Amino acid sequence: MEGISEFMKADHGELDDVFESFRVVRETDSKRAKILLAQLREGLGRHILMEEKVLFPLFGERKVGRNYVSVADLNEQHRRIKELLAQIDKDFSLEKETEDSEAELEQILVAHDIMEERTIYPWIERHVDGAAKKKAMERISEMSD
Ligand SMILES: [Fe+2]
Ligand SMILES: [Fe+2]
Repeated sequence: MEGISEFMKADHGELDDVFESFRVVRETDSKRAKILLAQLREGLGRHILMEEKVLFPLFGERKVGRNYVSVADLNEQHRRIKELLAQIDKDFSLEKETEDSEAELEQILVAHDIMEERTIYPWIERHVDGAAKKKAMERISEMSD
């Protein structure tokens, strides 16, 4: 079975691609853009649930290397990510500008994903025992179907 870190990183990459595709077509193909936006909202919502329900509880609050990782901050970023997606969705359907919200979303996602990929995911890989990791991966797989 694929590792947690590998799976979640790949998911970040796929979601980035969907976001990028949305931005590429949003002015020329609104039908396709709408589908991509729905896909992004759904995918990010699911990814966030995997983290908040399965992964963050395994991690708790701790220091990783020199970085103190605050799960509360990550949760707050998740909240903002969902809020921005809802805003983009609303503005896009009203044919309003979405660029500022997109720029903020991109900025948050880049920093947020790096933080998770450098701290939480590898910490779980290294410190959580095999059986608990297997169970977590099974729950994540179920959620991704
Ligand atoms: Fe996250
Ligand atoms: Fe993530």
